[in-house]
Amino acid sequence: MDAELRPPIRSLGRLAEAEEHCTRCPLYADATQAVPGEGPRRARIMVVGEQPGDQEDRAGHPFVGPAGRLLDQALENAGIDRGETFVTNAVKHFKHEMRGKRRLHKRPNAYEVERCHKWFEAELALVKPALIVALGATAARSVLGRPVPIGKSRRKRFELAGGTAVFVIQHPSALLRIRDSADRRTQFRRFSADLRHAASQAG
Ligand code: URA
Repeated sequence: MDAELRPPIRSLGRLAEAEEHCTRCPLYADATQAVPGEGPRRARIMVVGEQPGDQEDRAGHPFVGPAGRLLDQALENAGIDRGETFVTNAVKHFKHEMRGKRRLHKRPNAYEVERCHKWFEAELALVKPALIVALGATAARSVLGRPVPIGKSRRKRFELAGGTAVFVIQHPSALLRIRDSADRRTQFRRFSADLRHAASQAG
């Protein structure tokens, strides 16, 4: 285990402090701050996204921007209380490029996901969820340790070595990119239903 995680971190607060000082990959340099996972220490469900977006980077909290609002609605539709859920990201710093004054999201690469995996492992060790919902390809890669096809993984139950169930679901940002409103509504219902299905499978 790396120096930052030795001795083992015993609280989410300590973990957030350690993440804030992380320099394991270059992404810390251009981000406002690390965005730690949030939620109860013993949450039954952990939701893992890709990385903080522009608003999350400024606020220091995960899923508080447009994708977060969609996630909140879908969790509610699925009967999942966000307050009882641990919400985090595969990568803790916002990766972006400047386009004029705008900071445009850039997908983290395999190296950055791998370097950040230690923090996910530490979250997993503290929270010990029964179920992980991985939102999108980056989260799935981090949680499962290998790339998986999102479409073919729909409603498939994966399992981590410790017995935690994992379901891979589309990332809510994909819904934000759908132009046709009827299609967007259909996909949103499907997203909510997939969350409900995953929650029903947790032990
Ligand atoms: N997208 C993510 O994957 N995570 C966030 O926190 C916000 C948007």
